[in-house]
Amino acid sequence: MPESYEPYLAEVLIDSETLQKRIAELGAEISRDLAGLRDLWLICVLKGGVMFLTDLMRHITIPHAVDFMAVSSYGVQARESTGHVRIVMDLSTDPAGKNLLIVEDIIDSGHTLDYIIKLLRARNPASVRVCTLLNKSERREVDIPLSYVGFDIPNKFVFGYGLDLDELFRNMPFVGVADEEAWRQRRRELA
Ligand code: IMP
Ligand code: MG
Repeated sequence: MPESYEPYLAEVLIDSETLQKRIAELGAEISRDLAGLRDLWLICVLKGGVMFLTDLMRHITIPHAVDFMAVSSYGVQARESTGHVRIVMDLSTDPAGKNLLIVEDIIDSGHTLDYIIKLLRARNPASVRVCTLLNKSERREVDIPLSYVGFDIPNKFVFGYGLDLDELFRNMPFVGVADEEAWRQRRRELA
């Protein structure tokens, strides 16, 4: 039997219907606000942002292109971000002169996005905006200007809808709070 997420789910935080309704609103807002911009590029941060990107872009009615980048934090056990970030996969195109909208799954301490924003700004885009599905504002260590936020969430470790528990369960259509004790127990059993 394939392993189920169920033992590791403490509660569903945002169900699928609520996610989809909010994402449609964000798409409409973005389409309205950015209608005059030329050369709009959605920059998806892999891997967590991918489900959000593909749903969001279906609700964006103005012309836009997409590109992807992947970053990782060094020397961390999944949960804590140290602020040491490196590029794992860079954009396939030069962002100079383009209007960029970064599409992220979640902002926690803010270090990852701070690094990405600085890196992109250094390449002379016309503008940089941020759209994040989830925002854990309580945990913020660096200030990040956010243009679009799906949901403010409490300081709990969440998974599903793109977010993983050690790379698993990104495919769940909802955002759930992890039962961290149950997950630690599984890690111990696998070690
Ligand atoms: P930050 O650098 O602390 O803002 O962390 C951002 C990154 O940490 C996100 O892009 C996620 O990959 C990961 N992350 C932070 N909180 C969670 C969570 O609750 N579940 C899954 N991944 C998370
Ligand atoms: Mg992310």
